[in-house]
Amino acid sequence: MSTPPRQKRFTPADIGALKGVRPIVSLTAYTTPVARIMDNHCDLLLVGDSLGMVLYGLDTTVGVTMEMMIAHGQAVMRGAKRACVIVDLPFGSYQESKEQAFRNAVRLMKETGCDGVKLEGGAEMAETVEFLVSRGVPVFGHIGLMPQQVNTSGGYRSKGHSEAEQDKIRRDAKAIDEAGAFAMVIEGTVEPLAREITTTVKSATIGIGASPACDGQILVSDDMLGLFNEFKPRFVKHFAELANVIDKAVSDYAEEVKARTFPGPEHTFQVRPKK
Ligand code: KIV
Repeated sequence: MSTPPRQKRFTPADIGALKGVRPIVSLTAYTTPVARIMDNHCDLLLVGDSLGMVLYGLDTTVGVTMEMMIAHGQAVMRGAKRACVIVDLPFGSYQESKEQAFRNAVRLMKETGCDGVKLEGGAEMAETVEFLVSRGVPVFGHIGLMPQQVNTSGGYRSKGHSEAEQDKIRRDAKAIDEAGAFAMVIEGTVEPLAREITTTVKSATIGIGASPACDGQILVSDDMLGLFNEFKPRFVKHFAELANVIDKAVSDYAEEVKARTFPGPEHTFQVRPKK
């Protein structure tokens, strides 16, 4: 009997090595059953702090806690056997000092079993990234539009429309790359700049609203599945309309309960005949 090939989990280094080989496929994941489905198709699953908005109904990601990230990180790790799993460090868990970042990154890795952490920030976080990487924590960077900074950066508008903004993002990319991030999300950034960064950094660039020029793509899963419809940024494509599917299923259920056609005989227990 032949043994099936071992389904080895992608490591952060494997993800970095895909740069220039083929596009890297990634999505956010938050639960075991969805991670199990995505695991067959994605190289990397991100337990993003976007869960605060899409699962918990928060207005921004600022209120997300370490406990939320740990619970969902554990859930995703139970479902993903092949994809590299990265968990976001939430707002306030890493910006204070590199020691605080290390403590919380290690907590995420030990308590979830994930493969690395993601943090938002450019040049100002480079020392922290270097501190983490040199001590065994793989880091996924995040530059361009940074949702955790929404309260100081003027909202969710796309970046790189002025020379000054382009210079800043360029410097951020270089700093995070040199600090050792295996990959970096480039979010909401104009195409020519995303292309230039992709060709100049060693790290793999994963775009969300940053054009097809990036080394890979990521979307918030609830956005691409058509589950989170409060707003639809330009860069989101609905690959399904799950909100409509759920609405129809729940409406059918309500009708059948009211009409007493559900549960039917096939869903109902009767006393077993005596043997
Ligand atoms: O939290 C998240 O889902 C993210 C993606 C948008 C990349 O950071």
